[in-house]
Amino acid sequence: MNTNQKQGINTGDIVEAGLNRAQEYTLEDQEISFSDDQHAIWEDLFAGIQQPYLLEHLCQSYIDGIALLQLDPQRIPSVAYLNERIQPRTGWRIQRTAVRYTLADDWYKKFAQRIFLITDYLRSRREMEFTPEPDMFHDIVGHLPYLTQAFYARIEDRFAPAYFKGTAAEREVIKRLAWYTTEFGIVVEDGRFKIFGAGTISGRSELSNTIMEFYRLGRDNVIDYRADIFAQLQEQYLAHRTDLERIIAGVNQLHQHGQMSSQEHGWNVVQGLYHELGIDRKDYLGGEVILAPFDLEMIAQLPKTVYAFNPIFFVCESLEKMDAALDGYLSPIARRNV
Ligand SMILES: [Fe+2]
Repeated sequence: MNTNQKQGINTGDIVEAGLNRAQEYTLEDQEISFSDDQHAIWEDLFAGIQQPYLLEHLCQSYIDGIALLQLDPQRIPSVAYLNERIQPRTGWRIQRTAVRYTLADDWYKKFAQRIFLITDYLRSRREMEFTPEPDMFHDIVGHLPYLTQAFYARIEDRFAPAYFKGTAAEREVIKRLAWYTTEFGIVVEDGRFKIFGAGTISGRSELSNTIMEFYRLGRDNVIDYRADIFAQLQEQYLAHRTDLERIIAGVNQLHQHGQMSSQEHGWNVVQGLYHELGIDRKDYLGGEVILAPFDLEMIAQLPKTVYAFNPIFFVCESLEKMDAALDGYLSPIARRNV
C-alpha cells in the first residue's frame, strides 16, 4: 500500500500481491469450474472482439495465434487445453494463480521458467466496458494467442534475465517497457497502424478509442495513409514534443492527487488539463489518445500505474524494430555480472 492509499486517496493504482503458497493452486489442482454466468460473460466478451471490423486492426501475429488457439467462443478454456496448444509451439506453459495482480518479482520468476500466470478472476457484468484489474479474459484472449508465436515468446524471454540483474530504477523502466509494448504497443504493418498490446485487445474502451484514433488521424489530415505513416508520425511527434512533455507532467500530477482513478474521471480531467495548459485539442493532439513513435526516454517518465487512463500509446515501425529496441535496453543489463 502506498502513502496515497493510506491517506485514502485513490490513485487508480492496482495493489500488487505476492503469491501466497497456502492459497495458490497446486500443479495438480489447476482446473476449476465456472458458473453458467461466467461462461456467458466470456461468450459476450469473446464475441465482442471476433468482429471483422475490429480484427482488421489487430496485428498479424495475433490473428495467426488466435487461429492456432482455437478457443471455444462459449466456454472458458481449461489450463490443460491451453497448454496443449501453446507448449509444443514455444515451450511456454500456463499456470493458474489466485492473485489478481501479481508482484513483478513473482511474475518475472515465473517468466524465467517460461511460465505465464493466468488469474482465476473474471470481470463481472458491470465491468464489461472497463476493468481496472486484468482478468482471465485479458490474460487468455489478450496474451495467449501470442504465446503460440516463436517471435513473441522471444520478446517475452528478454524481460526476466534483465529484470533480475537490473537496479531498482532499471526495474521500473523494464516494467514500463513491458507495459507500453506487450500491454499497449502498436506496430506498423502493411502501411497501417495495427494493435499489438494485450491490454488494448482485451479492453473494450481502449480498443475502440485506439481504433478511432487511427481513423481520426486520417480524417483530420494529420496522417496521410497513402504515404509512409511512421515517418509522418515521427514528424508530428517531434513538432509537439514540448507540449507532450507538459501533458505528461500534468497527468503525473493528477495521478498523484488521485484524480485519474476512474476512466470517466480520467478523460474529463485530461481535457481540463489541456485547457489549463493552453494546449488546443486539435490536429495531432485532437484525439482521445495520443499515438507516438516508440521513445524509451518518454516511456521511462510515464507512470505505469495509471490503469484508468493511458494518455499515450507507442508505435513501433515493425515487430522486428520493437524487438531490437527492447533488446537494446534489456540485453546489456541481462549480461551484467552481478
Ligand atoms: Fe497483461
